[in-house]
Amino acid sequence: MFLGLDLGTSGLKGVLVDDDQRVVAGATAPLTVSRPHDGWSEQSPADWIAAAEAVIGGLPAAARAAVRGIGLSGQMHGATLLDGADNVLRPCILWNDTRAHAAAAGLDADPRFRTVTGNIVFPGFTAPKLVWVGQHEPGIFARVAKVLLPKDYLRLWLTGEHVSEMSDAAGTSWLDTGARKWSEELLAATGMTPDTMPRLVEGSDISGRVRPEISARFGIPASAVVAGGAGDNAAAAIGVGVVSAGQAFVSLGTSGVLFAANDGYRPDPDVAVHTFCHALPGRWHQMGVVLAATDALNWFARLAGAETGTLTATLGSLRAPGKTRFLPYLGGERTPLNDAAIRGAFIGLEHATDRDAATRAVLEGVAYAIRDCRDALAATGTRIDRLIAAGGGSRSDYWLAAIATALGTPVSVPVAGDFGGAFGAARLGLMAATGAGAVIATTPAIARTFEPDATLTAAFDDGFARYRAAQTAIKSLT
Ligand code: XUL
Repeated sequence: MFLGLDLGTSGLKGVLVDDDQRVVAGATAPLTVSRPHDGWSEQSPADWIAAAEAVIGGLPAAARAAVRGIGLSGQMHGATLLDGADNVLRPCILWNDTRAHAAAAGLDADPRFRTVTGNIVFPGFTAPKLVWVGQHEPGIFARVAKVLLPKDYLRLWLTGEHVSEMSDAAGTSWLDTGARKWSEELLAATGMTPDTMPRLVEGSDISGRVRPEISARFGIPASAVVAGGAGDNAAAAIGVGVVSAGQAFVSLGTSGVLFAANDGYRPDPDVAVHTFCHALPGRWHQMGVVLAATDALNWFARLAGAETGTLTATLGSLRAPGKTRFLPYLGGERTPLNDAAIRGAFIGLEHATDRDAATRAVLEGVAYAIRDCRDALAATGTRIDRLIAAGGGSRSDYWLAAIATALGTPVSVPVAGDFGGAFGAARLGLMAATGAGAVIATTPAIARTFEPDATLTAAFDDGFARYRAAQTAIKSLT
């Protein structure tokens, strides 16, 4: 039995997978985000541990007793700051927190960062957050002994070890992404040393074993290994079998991600794509990141006083975009804009804009943002011919049909089952425990494929042109 734990932004999910990779049990616990100031986004690491206790404790005891490997997946980029006794110094500053935009711009102006990491220093990445803490909370900064990414804090609780792995480490702005090691030069540029950072392993390697206390409390064998695991997007890629060049998926989670696997290291920071290590040795990937995907839909659902599922259930089949347009930049945007200050918009509102029309505009807006990511990846020479869909938003047929038509690319949904980060993490746990390689990261059986609707292509192209025009216009307003 293998356990995958995915520390998401809106909840922690656990799945238990048997030796034949069948999901035998699952549990989730919700998490909330605190936004004390404009652009801030924080969570308390104690809440992650409470969620992990609830999730692991909620899985069947007999299955827990058979666990041989555990894999961890998690929201990327968060800065979890610990003192020398592993006490948490302040709430974790999350991936979608943009307070460090000035620090990010400062680091990004130092050419070493793009050269060594292969990426823009985005405000949501980890290194600029430490610069911000140094400037605004110097007392805390002085006490920082270790910086951990969110899922690696869970690992510390599970194993007692400070360890990270390549895919998540690549989102810190401190990794030499091509060489797969911490860059002492970049750490020094932000007042850090290699000692402040966790040891690095590959995602499919063993990072440690469960602590005796965890074993006794949850009945997990003390021999169970904990794999390196992966950042949530690389973990989801392992879950849907996107491991080799030519394979790609779209994730509709709190963020929206267009992810393409690469055999080699192909950085191109100029177009705001992310180039990170994959969770398997010798592999990399590229992705475009939209900061608000289901986050935008959930925001609109709250505004409309409706459940998200109810909002999308009444939409019927795909139709031509109306006049109403939505730009999903609720907390700034990464790809392709790298703009922490830009904010979203509804435009083209009219008397006929009812709840369904506004919902369709939200779904179309995110689909266009993903098309923007596709164009950014294409500018680096990465072609995407078909996509698998993952994440909670892939339950909406309308959304998948809109993405297929907006991108002109077929979008396939796996058969019922959860092939996201938690499942990919369980696969990494299986690899670490058994020594299996990429070959077990197969593509799940496909339930349905949404083909682009040729009768609506022109309308969606026209909608995209108007989306781009609106994007340019609102930049000067925010
Ligand atoms: C990726 C990113 C998000 C988070 C969401 O760069 O910031 O996808 O990983 O959990």
